[in-house]
Parts: sequence; C-alpha cells; structure tokens
Amino acid sequence: QQQYRITLLPGDGIGPEIMAVAVDVLKLVGQQLNLHFEFQTALVGGAAIDATGEPLPAATLETCRQSDAVLLAAIGGWKWDSLPSHQRPERGLLGLRSGLGLFANLRPAKILPQLIDASTLKREVVEGVDIMVVRELTGGIYFGQPKGIFATETGEKRGVNTMAYTESEIDRIGRVAFETARKRGGKLCSVDKANVLEVSQLWRDRIIQLASEYQDIELTHLYVDNAAMQLVRAPKQFDTIVTGNLFGDILSDAAAMLTGSIGMLPSASLGANGPGVFEPVHGSAPDIAGQDKANPIAQVLSVAMMLRYALDRPEAADRIERAVLQVLDNGYRTGDIMSNGMTLVGCRAMGDALLQALENPQS
Ligand code: NAD
Ligand code: IPM
Ligand code: MN
Repeated sequence: QQQYRITLLPGDGIGPEIMAVAVDVLKLVGQQLNLHFEFQTALVGGAAIDATGEPLPAATLETCRQSDAVLLAAIGGWKWDSLPSHQRPERGLLGLRSGLGLFANLRPAKILPQLIDASTLKREVVEGVDIMVVRELTGGIYFGQPKGIFATETGEKRGVNTMAYTESEIDRIGRVAFETARKRGGKLCSVDKANVLEVSQLWRDRIIQLASEYQDIELTHLYVDNAAMQLVRAPKQFDTIVTGNLFGDILSDAAAMLTGSIGMLPSASLGANGPGVFEPVHGSAPDIAGQDKANPIAQVLSVAMMLRYALDRPEAADRIERAVLQVLDNGYRTGDIMSNGMTLVGCRAMGDALLQALENPQS
C-alpha cells in the first residue's frame, strides 16, 4: 500500500473553492484504489502575503520540496494589484516554479465532444482539436536580467525586462517537446519571433540542431503572430507546440478557448527531478470568486495529470477523466461551459456530480 505526500496550495480567489472539489475527488479515487495520501496545506500568493507578508514563505517552498507532488489552484486578485512587483502574489508562483526548477510546462488543449457547442468557434473548426503546448517556464523575459524600473538621466522612469535564453535552456525544453511529440502525433511546431529577436534566432537554431536527433518528428516553425492567427483559423494543424515563457503563456490561453473554456484546462509543470506542480491554466477569477460559480474541472483534471505524471497511477487518472466525461454526458454545466438544454450547476454541485460519477461509473 502506497503513501503519497501531496502539498496543497489553494491560493486566492476561486482557488479554495476548486481545490476543495479536487481534494474530494482525489480522496475518493484513493479509497477506491487503496492509495493513501497525506495532505499538507501551505500558503502562497495573496493568502501568504496577508498571513506572512511575503508571497512565497520559505516554509511553503520547503513543504513542497518534501512532497511527492504539489497541487496548486490559483493566485492573485485585485486586493494585491497595486503592490510593487516583488511583493505581488504572482511573484510567489514564479518563485515556486524557479525554486523547484520546473522548466517544462505541459498545457494540453483537447476539445471534448460534449463541449463543441460551448466553443465560440465553429464546430468544424474545433472538432477533433488535440494540442499540447510545451511552454518553457523558468527562463525568457519572465526571469531575464536586467529587470526593473529605473530612472533615466532626464529623470523619467524606464521599465526594463530582458528576454534571454541560453543554449542549454533551449535544449532541455526542446528535448521535452520532441519527446512529447513522439508520444503524440509526431509533429512539433516551434513558435518564436526569429524575424526580429536575436533570442529567437538562437532558439530556432538550437531547435533545428536538436531535430537531427529526432528524425521521426516532423518539425515546423512559425512566428508567434502567425501562430496566434493559425490557432484560431485552423487549430487542427497543430499537434505539439514548443515555445518560450511569454509566448507560451499567451498561446495557451488562446488554445484554451478552442476547447470551450479556460475553466477546463489543466497543466503540469515539471523539472529534471523533484516534485512537479499541477495547476489549472486559468487564474484566480476574482470576478466570480466566492460565488460558487467556478468550474472545478481544470483543477480536477490537474489532479489526473498529477496521478499520471508524478505518481505513476494511470488507472486513477483514467477514472477521474472518465468521471469528467460522464458528468458532461449527463448534462451538468458550470456557467462558463453552459449551452442550450444543459443543467446549470455551481462549483460545489459540479463536485458532487463528479463524486457521484466516480461512485457509479456508467461504462
Ligand atoms: P483568470 O484566468 O483568472 O480569469 C479570466 C476569465 O476567465 C475571468 O472572466 C474568469 O471568471 C474566467 N475563469 C477563469 N477560470 C475559471 C473557472 N475555473 N471557471 C469559470 N470561469 C473561469 O485571468 P485574469 O482575470 O486575467 O487574472 C486574475 C488573477 O489571476 C490575476 O491576479 C492574475 O495574475 C492571476 N492569474 C493566476 C494564474 C495562476 O495562478 N496560475 C494564472 C493566470 C492568472
Ligand atoms: C499562468 C499565469 C502566470 C504566468 C502568472 C500569474 C504569473 O498567467 O500560469 O499562465 O504568467 O505564467
Ligand atoms: Mn497565463
């Protein structure tokens, strides 16, 4: 009988609401498959700022390091939006990613047949979409030096960030992407801005170099502006996408909308070793926080990714993914994925429906 240590980081906004559902789901699957979880809840983001004055207390990072996997909900909110950047909730999330060395962020965007009508795009455009965005997560313009707001000689302020990648940073995310493509459709599209940015020229050179080791993978390149356009024009052309930190942030939100709602999309943030962080692609949704309106499915599917990628329990992940399909088949919808003839439910009721589906699988 196996015991897993899981750190829970509920964070802010809808975070605690969707985390509660995810933990109930995980506990029930654990009971069903005789897996034992030891949960530690820790502070990050605005919740940590309020309690301790800092967005990522050292104790939180330590707790995460001691665990087998970290389940994060979301951070951030209006309350902390006017703080200087180094004290903001977002800094807690960035510190967690860099502190745990999580350079690879896998963001799958797959349309479920039940939700085709929830997409804002036409059925024939989105039907069958199955994309994996591999986003570099600990480098690029999020972390490059110099950064800051500096005074110029004329006395005005100048805001600075630096987009930088070393060859080794590009190679390691490139390898993850080629390996990911190999397990999927065998196609990799590298997205950059090599027509303008030197950092992207190096990115493209290295990806082309790496391709010689992955001759079975069909490699293409797109500039990021064209990639954004192609994602909404003809998303089915994509299988696996690899890109830098900022481009990946933006493109993964766009890819999310192909599937109907950002409230559906999970992600896995992985390093070379040590625990991974599993989190929805969306944020803390302050506009609906505390109203029992959030869609918990992205969080629940993040639990499934955790079981698959970190704990190597694919049978538990399958159960959760089947339960999600079953509640959608049964017509349950939160507001973000609502369509005609479906049953509108809140976060908690969606959670109850998921537990029901786990107890009584229909196929
Ligand atoms: P957001 O993703 O929180 O919300 C964007 C829109 O999507 C909102 O209208 C929201 O209601 C909706 N939405 C998001 N998740 C939903 C869900 N599960 N169910 C139903 N609707 C959902 O992005 P934002 O509004 O730009 O950012 C809000 C805060 O979240 C900011 O402080 C931002 O920095 C932070 N943020 C955190 C993360 C993270 O923790 N990983 C990610 C993105 C943004
Ligand atoms: C995400 C978020 C974060 C990012 C923010 C909150 C730091 O948008 O996880 O996509 O930009 O990476
Ligand atoms: Mn984002």
